Amino acid sequence: EAQDVAWREYVREDRVHRSLYTDERVFNEEMVKVFGHTWVYLAHESQLPEPNSFVSTKLGLRPIIVTRDRRGGLHAVFNRCAHRAATVCREETGVAKSFQCPYHGWTFKNTGELVGAPWPQGYGPDFDKSEFGLGKVTRVDSYRGFIFGTLSEAAPPLADYLGEARPWLDYWIDRAPEGEVVVRSAAHRMGYRGNWKLAFDNAGDGYHPSFSHRSLLEMASRMGDSKDMSYFGKTPDDGPMKVYSLGNGHSVIDQRPNFDGPGSIWANQRPQPGREKFEELIRAKYPEDADRLLDISAGGQINLSIFPNLLIIGNQIQVIEPLSVDRTQLTWNATSIGGVPEEVNTMRMRTQEDFPAFGEPDDQANFEEVQRGLAVTEEEWVLMNRGLNVDGWQTIDENGVIVTAVTDEIHMRGYYEEWLRLMNGEPA
Ligand code: FES
Ligand code: FE
Repeated sequence: EAQDVAWREYVREDRVHRSLYTDERVFNEEMVKVFGHTWVYLAHESQLPEPNSFVSTKLGLRPIIVTRDRRGGLHAVFNRCAHRAATVCREETGVAKSFQCPYHGWTFKNTGELVGAPWPQGYGPDFDKSEFGLGKVTRVDSYRGFIFGTLSEAAPPLADYLGEARPWLDYWIDRAPEGEVVVRSAAHRMGYRGNWKLAFDNAGDGYHPSFSHRSLLEMASRMGDSKDMSYFGKTPDDGPMKVYSLGNGHSVIDQRPNFDGPGSIWANQRPQPGREKFEELIRAKYPEDADRLLDISAGGQINLSIFPNLLIIGNQIQVIEPLSVDRTQLTWNATSIGGVPEEVNTMRMRTQEDFPAFGEPDDQANFEEVQRGLAVTEEEWVLMNRGLNVDGWQTIDENGVIVTAVTDEIHMRGYYEEWLRLMNGEPA
C-alpha cells in the first residue's frame, strides 16, 4: 500500500507539505511505517506493579495489552481475538492471568496463548489451539521503567534508539532519589481535532510560549513572581534556555539555566498556594536535605520529546495517540517519586496541575486552528525555518547534538528527518 511518491518532495529543508497533516493515505502509511517500524512508548513499569498486571494501550492504531507474566516478564500482545477480532480486554488496567473474549468466550493467557474455547468438541480434528494465540508485539523492551515496543526486527536496540535522549531521561529519572518514578493511576485525557504531529511539532517549540501561553504567564506575574523571567522577555534567543536536537527525532528544551536555586519553571512562575509554608516546614523537618527536597517537590525543568509519541513535560509523561488523520488523543500521566516524604510528593503533584489546566488548552486551540488552516489547498507549505542558517546560533558537539537558541525550529526539522527515513522504509 506504499504511495508512489518521493517523500523528499514533501519534506524540504525549511518546510513541509500540508498533505502530511491532511491526507488519509499519508496517515495510513505512517501507522505502518512510523508506528509499525520504530520504537513506540507503550507504558511505564509502575503501571504494572505486580505479576499478572496489565495495561491496555495502543501501538499506532493497534490496540495492545501490555502484560507482566507470573514471573514478572514483560509482554505486549494485540488486543484482538484470534477468532473474529473482538477486543479481548476491555479494561484499562488490572491484574489477570488470562483474558476471556467477551464475544464467544475464547480464553487467552496473559502471554497470548489460547488456552480454551467453549464447547471444544465443536471444532474439527485439525483445530490446533497453538495456532490461534493473540498476536505479539515482537520486540518489547524497557529503559529504566519506560516500556517501548516495536514490530520491526530491523530497528536498533532500544537504548541505541534513545541515543542522546538517554542522558536527559536519566537526569529526569535520577531526580527521584532512588530512581523510582511512579505513574499515578488516574490519567488526564484530552482530545483535539488535528493531526498527531501537531503535538510533536509543539512540544519542542520554544518559540510559541510567549504568545500562546501569555495569559498563564501574566497570571504568574500577577501572583507576585520575582524570579528571572527572561525567557519570556523580549529576547529569548539570547536567553539562557536552549533547545537541543538529539538525533533520531528526539529533542529537549532545557529550562534549568533560567532558574537559580531550588525550584522550577512552574514553582517560579506561579507560586503554589501554601508553598512558603511548605518551604518552612521542609526546612524545619529536614534541615540537612531541605534544598534537595524542595527541588524535587517542584517541576521537572525539561521538556523532552522522544519520537514519535512520548513527551516528558515537567513532572509529567504525555503520550500522543493518533486516532485518525485529523483526530488525536493526548494522555497526561502525573508522576510521583519514591524515597521522599509523602508531603514532598503532595506538593509535587500540585505543580502538575497548572500546565494541563492553563497551558494545554492554549496549545490544543492552536492545533485545531492549524488543522483548519491546512484546509486551504492553495497554500501548500508549512514553514519550519526559524533558526535555519542563522549565524552564531547553533553549535554541535562531538556526539552530533546540536544546541541552539530556544526559538529555533530545529526540533521540527530534526524529527522530520527521522520521519523521512522511516517513510522511505529505512530502519529507525
Ligand atoms: Fe473472540 Fe469470538 S471474537 S471469541
Ligand atoms: Fe505550549
